[in-house]
Amino acid sequence: MTAIIEAHRISKTIAPGGQAAPLPILRGIEFTAAPGEFVSILGPSGSGKTTLLRCLSGLTALTAGTILINGQPLSALSAKQLALLRRTTLSYIFQSYNLLPALSVLENIVLPLRLSHHPINVQAVQRLMAELRFKADLHQRPAALSGGEQQKVAIARALMTKAKLIFADEPTGALDSLSRAIIFDKLRALAVSGACVVMVTHDIAQAAKTDRTLILRDGRIAAIDTRPTERRLFEAMQSAEQVRP
Ligand SMILES: Nc1ncnc2c1ncn2[C@@H]1O[C@H](COP(=O)(O)OP(=O)(O)O)[C@@H](O)[C@H]1O
Ligand SMILES: [Mg+2]
Repeated sequence: MTAIIEAHRISKTIAPGGQAAPLPILRGIEFTAAPGEFVSILGPSGSGKTTLLRCLSGLTALTAGTILINGQPLSALSAKQLALLRRTTLSYIFQSYNLLPALSVLENIVLPLRLSHHPINVQAVQRLMAELRFKADLHQRPAALSGGEQQKVAIARALMTKAKLIFADEPTGALDSLSRAIIFDKLRALAVSGACVVMVTHDIAQAAKTDRTLILRDGRIAAIDTRPTERRLFEAMQSAEQVRP
């Protein structure tokens, strides 16, 4: 099947400024995923998972390498074209939720739909929030919610867009196990219906239920498991955590 996303030799280096040496965050990553695939990314904290997701989605500029989405190199797009691609094809669940504090929960959830002039079905939002076991009032501001509730709003915002390429950065980190399972099933259903889902997680049991797992260490892909099981991922993570020479 043709890839929806391809990343070739992507690197990201941060220039801290002053006398400090440049800091490599991603070092020559190769990544390809097809529609219908559910890919997970595991790795120790600080290994570059969030940076990788941000680069793959065009949120963060690369230092080197190429990313193609639907065969189009991101580097060839103007800022406006990139914004359009991000609105029409991508959705992103942020590790830090990124909700707009001045908007209500409902307005946050439908904002991507509004921006792309899609019809807004409030009942569909209410149904989704009930499925996600969201108990709070949809007319409140995000600041009135718990971390877990805010995370559900961020997830709902991404799920409502029907994007073909979904990036999820530890989407269930703040949630109880039942909510985790429900959200995992939602992401799986998106992949079954033909979307490509790329999810960062710390949960080995969740990763073992995806189609393929990448393990990141120090900005490099340390291992790829195309038939992940909990046991194998546990062992691979242990060796990724080991102290380096
Ligand atoms: N803008 C930045 N400036 C300086 N260091 C950064 C920046 N972004 C990320 N880093 C560093 O890069 C490393 C990888 O970060 P990140 O991608 O957030 O890792 P992960 O999501 O795997 O925990 C960390 O050591 C982090 O401190
Ligand atoms: Mg992270």
